Amino acid sequence: MSDPTPAPRFQNPRARHHFTSRTCSVTGVGSYVPERVLTNADLEQMVDTSDEWITTRTGIRERRLAADQETTSDMAAEASRRALEMAGVSAEEVDLIIVATVTPDMPFPATACLVQEKIGARNAAAFDVEAACSGFVFALEIGHQFVASRTHEVVLVIGAEKLSALVDWQDRNTCVLFGDGAGAAVLRHRPDSAGLLTVTMGADGGKGSLLCVPAGGAARPASVESVRQRLHFIRMDGRETFKNAVQAMLSAAREALARCELDISQIQCVIPHQANQRIIDAVGSRLGVKEEQLFVNLDKYGNTSAASVVIALDEAVRGGRIKRGDLVLMTVFGGGFTWGGAVLEW
Ligand code: ACO
Repeated sequence: MSDPTPAPRFQNPRARHHFTSRTCSVTGVGSYVPERVLTNADLEQMVDTSDEWITTRTGIRERRLAADQETTSDMAAEASRRALEMAGVSAEEVDLIIVATVTPDMPFPATACLVQEKIGARNAAAFDVEAACSGFVFALEIGHQFVASRTHEVVLVIGAEKLSALVDWQDRNTCVLFGDGAGAAVLRHRPDSAGLLTVTMGADGGKGSLLCVPAGGAARPASVESVRQRLHFIRMDGRETFKNAVQAMLSAAREALARCELDISQIQCVIPHQANQRIIDAVGSRLGVKEEQLFVNLDKYGNTSAASVVIALDEAVRGGRIKRGDLVLMTVFGGGFTWGGAVLEW
């Protein structure tokens, strides 16, 4: 009888072993936030707002702002050094660097290339991913695929933002919400762990204009007129964004749990995108999350977009809130619109 499954004609030439999947774990995390603190009281001096309004509507009390000369890649590099140290990996061992950001240092080269140079990861390829506030979870899934397929051993995934460069400091609707910072995760196979169990991702480009920076790209290059009209700053329909964020973060989390056949009670730590306490509360209560399961640091940093969940993951790990073997659920939402969910065994 002939063999029903003949051997493939070609081997995947980049696979170092066999082209079969393997698990991918986060073996180190790190984060960095700039020193300068901007409090709600400071914002009261800048626009017509109040600490009471900001706290009750958003849960944010203060945020960090990068120094003038401090760039997204500077913050990403520092977060990366800390993550590599925790993972016990040298920069030369990194095969690939993926940076999720909407505030690259410049249109090109990619911020990931600038990070590669700054940390001395001379053997790594490097590129950026843009999925706004969902960026880190999207980049995590991309990095996971490279490790799972055995083409790469060590992948550094970073979420980093200098949102203060895109914030209109005259617009009280948005300037109270955002902050700067970076987080990084080292991905590699660890035999004793299930690692990243699943990532769900989604997008709705039809709602892109509800949260965007209208100019500065190829559609509307910078001009005297675009600057005059303040089109290089974040524009947001807050109410629509709020509604969509709750719905999408909820369904992403539910899908991720269902794929893993997990119930929310089996999750030790839930890390939602840190955009607004009311969004977090709405998602948390509908998911049935108990207060002790939820990790929130939004009050200190505001919304740091792609850096948000990875800064939170780092703080939760270093603060002892997440221990080896714990299950972590992340759920995110951002401009695009984009959204995602991830379940990770730490
Ligand atoms: N201080 C005082 N008043 C303000 C401020 C402020 N900073 N900002 C807005 N207001 C006023 C508005 O002008 C409005 O006044 P009006 O009724 O006279 O027009 C009033 O407050 C109420 O405005 P709403 O938009 O209804 O306020 P809401 O309760 O929706 O809260 C907020 C606004 C906080 C922006 C909320 O809609 C929200 O959080 N949306 C989601 C935003 C978000 O999370 N975006 C990011 C998610 S994706 C990503 O991370 C990129």
